[in-house]
Amino acid sequence: MSIKHLLWEKRTEFRGGELSEYFDLGKLGSARPEELRFGLPEASRAEVVSCIGEKSALRGNWDTETCELDLAESPAEQTDTHVTVAIGREGDAIVVDGFGELLRARGKEEAIPVRVGLVHAQWQKFRNQIMNFVDAHKGRVYQKIHHPDLIRIPWLHGDERLELMKPEMPITSGTVLDIGANWGYWSHALTRLGLTCTAIDYNPKNALFVRKLRRAMSGTFEFRQMSVFDLPGVLSYDLVLGLNIFHHFLRYRDTFELFVDLLGRLDTDHMFFEPHCPEELAADDAYRNMEMDEFVQFIVDNSCMTQSRLLGTVTNGRKLYLLSR
Ligand SMILES: C[S@@+](CC[C@H](N)C(=O)[O-])C[C@H]1O[C@@H](n2cnc3c(N)ncnc32)[C@H](O)[C@@H]1O
Repeated sequence: MSIKHLLWEKRTEFRGGELSEYFDLGKLGSARPEELRFGLPEASRAEVVSCIGEKSALRGNWDTETCELDLAESPAEQTDTHVTVAIGREGDAIVVDGFGELLRARGKEEAIPVRVGLVHAQWQKFRNQIMNFVDAHKGRVYQKIHHPDLIRIPWLHGDERLELMKPEMPITSGTVLDIGANWGYWSHALTRLGLTCTAIDYNPKNALFVRKLRRAMSGTFEFRQMSVFDLPGVLSYDLVLGLNIFHHFLRYRDTFELFVDLLGRLDTDHMFFEPHCPEELAADDAYRNMEMDEFVQFIVDNSCMTQSRLLGTVTNGRKLYLLSR
């Protein structure tokens, strides 16, 4: 790892001024009840609860003493009508209050609102890294983050595409190659649906975020920081994700040629594909540009895919396709 990258990493852990409004105590996060598995022994729980409203971040080792939550044994509900969590240094959501509420939600699929009472000081550094990124990127992250604390941060792409895909999911188990994974939204989502994901992204800054988020969200997918073009040989996966990525390869002749080679090495039964809107590349003097349907045909012509189906159009005008062998 370069010194420049290490300096960037350290520098972004700090932030001047007030804590972001997104993390205000009154702004609720959310979590699926099954994610809320951890609690604290009584003494450290009492310490954490007493600091809520007084501090936003707490140092110390309180977050290392977590135990599997036993709701039958948990203290009677105390101050809050919501489930209240504290976030540990690596992002674990630890329940500290609102046990009755959690008991009522257990077994349900839907996410429930949670209050984030406070966080570990180390986690605050990661929040800072994200907020510094947000400030430099039009006030939002690219992909929604389904973490109880971070779900409050604005995003460019939410769950719209996943909702279009879910009813059309061609497999319920098997392997997925997530090309241009960004911060790992798709690998988290498809792992939850039972698939085994490999996420690829070459950007070292994205790599930091995807790794930390994978830990924080107990992700089990593999992440590889590399260019997809450097994956060697035949790429055999049951499903490939080519979402908002392939048009980047149309800009220059060298990446275009690598892209054609990559398509020829894919050995997959299915691909979700989301192209760009052609006008987005028009001003860039790109090496190649294509209409969306034309881009689909280009992939069919250069890969093992033979069929395509339009699943829908996303709010930003881009279309989502399912291609099959
Ligand atoms: C526009 S984002 C799309 C993210 C994601 N696929 C989605 O639709 O939510 C493109 C991502 O591809 C990554 N990327 C670009 N070229 C790449 C390459 N050659 N190999 C791996 N990742 C690449 C970028 O770092 C970025 O995270």
